[in-house]
Amino acid sequence: MSKSYDVIVVGSGIAGLSFALKVAEAGKRVAIITKKNSAESNTNYAQGGIAAVTSQTDDVAMHVADTLDAGDGLCDEQAVREILKDGAASIEELARRGVAFTQLDDGSVSLGKEGGHSQRRILHVKDVTGKAIEDALLHGIATSPNIETFEHHFAVELITAEKLRKLGHRVPFEGNRVLGLYALNTHSEAVETFTARSVLLATGGIGQVYQYTTNPFIATGDGIAMACRAGVEVRNMEFIQFHPTAFYSTDSNRFLISEAVRGEGAILRNLKGEAFMERYDARKDLAPRDIVARAIDSEMKQSGARHVWLDTRHIPLKKLHAHFPNIYNYCAKKGIALEKDMIPVVPAAHYLCGGVKTNLNGETSLPGLYACGEVACTGLHGANRLASNSLLEAVVMANRGAGAVADYIASSRLEPLELPNWVDGDVHDSDERVVLLHNWDEVKRTMWDYVGIVRSTKRLQRARTRLQNLNREITDYYWNFKVDESLLELRNMILVASLVVDCALQRKESRGLHCTLDYPQKQAKITNTSVCADHEDGCRP
Ligand code: FAD
Ligand code: SIN
Repeated sequence: MSKSYDVIVVGSGIAGLSFALKVAEAGKRVAIITKKNSAESNTNYAQGGIAAVTSQTDDVAMHVADTLDAGDGLCDEQAVREILKDGAASIEELARRGVAFTQLDDGSVSLGKEGGHSQRRILHVKDVTGKAIEDALLHGIATSPNIETFEHHFAVELITAEKLRKLGHRVPFEGNRVLGLYALNTHSEAVETFTARSVLLATGGIGQVYQYTTNPFIATGDGIAMACRAGVEVRNMEFIQFHPTAFYSTDSNRFLISEAVRGEGAILRNLKGEAFMERYDARKDLAPRDIVARAIDSEMKQSGARHVWLDTRHIPLKKLHAHFPNIYNYCAKKGIALEKDMIPVVPAAHYLCGGVKTNLNGETSLPGLYACGEVACTGLHGANRLASNSLLEAVVMANRGAGAVADYIASSRLEPLELPNWVDGDVHDSDERVVLLHNWDEVKRTMWDYVGIVRSTKRLQRARTRLQNLNREITDYYWNFKVDESLLELRNMILVASLVVDCALQRKESRGLHCTLDYPQKQAKITNTSVCADHEDGCRP
C-alpha cells in the first residue's frame, strides 16, 4: 500500500522545511522524506549568514547590482529583482519562527560583510547561522499537526505517469505528471511507495562529487539525478563554486573559514607573506569568490605550495571571539590561535549554481514537480553566486513555491493514485562492496583533477571517458544487486558529475566560475547550458 499525502517534500534543509511549514499552514498534509536525521543538511553548517536589505543605508537596487555583477552576465535579471525584493520579509519570517539574529550592543541587528557585497547586509547568528535556522524550523515542524517526517528514508526514484505507462500500467488521464516516489527505508532496508499530488525536491547540492568539499556527506546530488532520470530539464551545471577559504589539512576534511572573517578584515597571504589579492582585483580580499578562488589557485600553482594563509592577527581578539566562536574553537583544536597564528586555507567545492530549472514559482518542466534551494536553478546566481544569497533564495522560493503548489492542487483536482510497489526481482546482495568504495573515490578524484577551478577541453574529455566507464559499471551493479544507500548515492554522483562535464563541454567561453584555458574570452551571446534526460530510469515496479 502506498503512503498517501497532498505533498511530499524531499529534504529537510532550509528549503524543504520552510516549504513544508507554509504548505502545512495552508491545511495540506505533508510528508518530509529525509535520508539521515532531520538536521543533517548543508543548511546546518552555514556560517556567514543570510543576505538581505534591512538597513536604512542599503537599498534593494544595490543588492541587485552586486548580485548581477557577481553573476558575470548570466543572471536572470527578473529573477534577481523578484527574489531579492522579498529579502526583508523573509528575515522577519525567520525571526518570527525563532531565529535570534545577532544584535549589537545598541539593540540593532549586526550586519556582516562578504565578498562582492558593496554594503554590510549579512544577518547572522554569530558564525552558526545555519544551525540556528535549522533548529528554529525543525521546532516548527515538530509542532505542526499536518506534517509527518520520515527520517532515514532515501528518495530513490520519482514515479511519473509516463514511466508507469512505459512499464505497462494503466494511468487514468492523459499527459505526464509526477505521481509520487520510491524511498528506501535505510533502517528496515525496504523500498516504500509514497503517493502525492505534488512533490518538492529540496535535496541540496552536489559538493560530495569532489574530493575536497565544505559540504557534508548528504550532498550527493540525488534530487538532480532523480529529476534528470524523469526527463526534467537541468541547466548550468558547469558553475561549481569553490569557496576560497577552507581549512587546509592533510586528510580530505575541509572545514569552512567563513568569508565573513575577511569581511572583518582578515587578509590572504602567500607563503612569502605577501598580501597577493591586490594584484588580482581592486576589491582585494573581498572580490567575488570566483576571482579570489582563482587567485589562490594561481598563487599555489606558481609556488607549488599546498595552501595559502589567512591572517587574522591584526583583528582584536575580542571581536574574533564574539563573532566567530565556532571557527575560533575549531582552529584552536587544530593548534592555531587566531591572535598569533595564521590559518592555512585552500579552495574547496562549495556550492552548485546550476540545477533543476525552475520558474519563479519553483515549477520544473514536469507538472506537479517543484524544486527549491540549492537543487534548483532559478537564474538568481548566474555564473557565480553572491555570498549568502543562497539561504535567502531558499526561503523566498519556498514561500513562492508553497503558494504555487496550493494553486496546482486546487486546479488539478486529481486524488493521489494507488501506485505499484517496488519489486526487487531477481537481485541479490553484493559480495563485492569494495568496488563501490573504489568507484566512489574515483569519481571524486576525477572531478577534482579534471573539472576543477581551471579547466581545459582535454581534461574535461578525460573526465567524460572515466565517468562513462564508471557509469557502465554502476548501471550493471544497480540492476543486479539489492539497492542500498551507498550504491544509490554513487549512481547519482556519477550521473551528476557527468552532467557537470557535459555542461562544461557545451560552454565554449570563460565566464564566472567556468574558466577554461581553451576559451579564455567571454562570448558576446549569453547562453544557458542545458541537459535533459535520456538517462535510464531506475523504477522497478
Ligand atoms: P540542504 O540544506 O543541503 O538540505 C538538503 C536535504 O535533503 C538534507 O536534509 C538531505 O539529507 C536531504 N536529502 C538529500 N538527498 C536526499 C535523498 N535522496 N532522499 C532524502 N533526503 C535527501 N549559504 C548562505 O547563504 N550563507 C552562508 O553563510 C552559507 N554558509 C555555508 C557554509 C557551509 C559549510 C556550506 C556547506 C554551505 C553554506 N552555504 C551558505 C550554502 C547553503 O548552506 C546551502 O546552499 C543551503 O543551506 C541549501 O539548503 P537546501 O535546503 O537547498 O539544502
Ligand atoms: C561563508 O560563510 O563564507 C559562506 C557563505 C556562503 O556560502 O554564502
